[in-house]
Amino acid sequence: MISLTKQWEKHQPLVIIKEENVIIKVGREIEHPMLEMHLIEIIDVLKYTKAGLLRVKTFELKFWEKPEIIFPVSDIKAWTYKIQARCNLHWTWDDDFVI
Ligand SMILES: [Fe+2]
Repeated sequence: MISLTKQWEKHQPLVIIKEENVIIKVGREIEHPMLEMHLIEIIDVLKYTKAGLLRVKTFELKFWEKPEIIFPVSDIKAWTYKIQARCNLHWTWDDDFVI
């Protein structure tokens, strides 16, 4: 059985704001595998609102892609956001970031 620490290392999304882009990579220490049978299927970007979390972007990934997305920082307004990365085998992992 894989430890929770190992699961965290390869599932926890990492948000990098670089120049004019938001880059989200899945896996802090180890890039998550992208195989037909085991992959990051969806990365959601959600915004905190008074009514709860509001989905603002959804990226569906295929097994031949990297577990990484990029979009212009101008696509979203200055706010606090939550990233959710969904593995088809190992649940959803999330983190917050502020623009
Ligand atoms: Fe996984």
